Amino acid sequence: MNIILMGPPGAGKGTQAELIKAKYPIPHISTGDMFREAVSNGTQMGKEAQKYMDAGKLVPDQVTIGIVEERLAQSDCAKGFLLDGFPRTTVQAEALDQTLKKLNKKVEVALNIAAPDEILIERLSGRVSCKDCKKVYNLSYSPPAQAGVCDICGGEIIQRSDDRGETVAKRLEVYNEQTAPLLKYYDECQLLHNLDGNRDSREVFQEVVRILESL
Ligand code: AP5
Ligand code: MG
Ligand code: ZN
Repeated sequence: MNIILMGPPGAGKGTQAELIKAKYPIPHISTGDMFREAVSNGTQMGKEAQKYMDAGKLVPDQVTIGIVEERLAQSDCAKGFLLDGFPRTTVQAEALDQTLKKLNKKVEVALNIAAPDEILIERLSGRVSCKDCKKVYNLSYSPPAQAGVCDICGGEIIQRSDDRGETVAKRLEVYNEQTAPLLKYYDECQLLHNLDGNRDSREVFQEVVRILESL
């Protein structure tokens, strides 16, 4: 199963990815998570990416395409992959098609999760996660039992630096300008499925499963 997860910031891509990978054993490839990992490891690429992420802008295509190409060539992607947050520009989508062609693969489905802007903003401003095991919580809908402490591992609860006011607004603007036009690309390839992300995440997942089982 070769899956792309699309949708604006806060739509629930990461949340659905967790549910999908628990049911279907395919690697979850999140470019955002890869960049955050590089930032926390202090690598040169992390330092470069951080400037863009903190400004709510996209990391340049060349950097992003490079890390995805490398990741898709790894052996654990042989039986499929779940791309979360990539592609985000037409250049990235075309590069992905080319990379997959070389690997004798193709995108089988593009799941687009949508929700109104006010919901996205509310979700992002309430999102926190565990510094150690990365479990995601939401202070409004699904807070940890004890404030500031992870239910799973007891780790410290932190907020993503790009989940603050102005950066969130910029990310939504960038999504509308640079990423939303890509939906047409996948629609024309007849790979696009639109999902209403403004409901309980388990309900969204039920629909995801129906789509995946029908492939
Ligand atoms: P990335 O990490 O991909 O962030 P994003 O696309 O902005 O999306 P988010 O991770 O914020 O949202 P999500 O849809 O995963 O929502 P989640 O499930 O967590 O990218 C970050 C940055 O990296 C970019 O700005 C860019 O700089 C760079 N980057 C990454 N990829 C790139 C690329 N391809 N090209 C260039 N640059 C790139 O949910 C959010 C919250 O809502 C959580 O608290 C969750 O618990 C809650 N929630 C989720 N679903 C529901 C529901 N159904 N009901 C109630 N609450 C819910
Ligand atoms: Mg995410
Ligand atoms: Zn934890």
